[in-house]
Amino acid sequence: MSETVLTIVNDNEPGQGLANDWGLSIHVSLQDGRRLLFDFDTKPEVLEYNMPRLGLDPAKVELGVLSHRHMDHAGGLSYIAKANPGITVYTTPDAAEVAREQGVSRVKVNDTGGVIGEGLALTRPLPAIGLLEHGLVINTDRGKPILLVGCSHPGVDRIASLASEIVGGRLHLVIGGFHKPSRSELDRLAGLAEYISPIHCSGEQAKDYVKRVFPGKYVGARTGSVLEVPLD
Ligand SMILES: [Fe+2]
Ligand SMILES: [Fe+2]
Repeated sequence: MSETVLTIVNDNEPGQGLANDWGLSIHVSLQDGRRLLFDFDTKPEVLEYNMPRLGLDPAKVELGVLSHRHMDHAGGLSYIAKANPGITVYTTPDAAEVAREQGVSRVKVNDTGGVIGEGLALTRPLPAIGLLEHGLVINTDRGKPILLVGCSHPGVDRIASLASEIVGGRLHLVIGGFHKPSRSELDRLAGLAEYISPIHCSGEQAKDYVKRVFPGKYVGARTGSVLEVPLD
């Protein structure tokens, strides 16, 4: 069986031979050939430089998901909208305008969470610091589901808990920005997920904590990393 492939187009940690800045963008290649982009980094130039060097074609991405309206996740949307005018991008209600301003013509708003395609679901948007944020769950129908998160402003454990309700069980991998989580948040997350990959705004303390307390769960990733899932 071919695997789901996650490619980190940009993370705060640089990767050799690739452009880099503070932001997040993850490309997903599904088993059936569909390609998705989760978050769009800070600068169009970074996506434009990194995608072809990672063997990724923006024109082949059929679906995008913007986790929340902060510009270190939405700033590169203008590049995708230009390279792929047909792309549909899912946003939280408060981020739809940001996506339209960046030139995305097909914006779909996620109000309540739920299925957005075969094996794909969005968590219900949760409020935090004056915005809404949702996560993307993939392989909901295959076992070994993956949750992608942007900054986890509402709490990575809370987003993971919604994702776990959607799939009716544990998550295989949770990856993304965890926004300097508390230890108890990470403990709860560890109860919900087989593997944990704290990147972007997670912070060194969160990385160290997962490495030390849950060494079998920690998955390191940075700009240019390619993860083939399932991981075991
Ligand atoms: Fe962020
Ligand atoms: Fe953020």
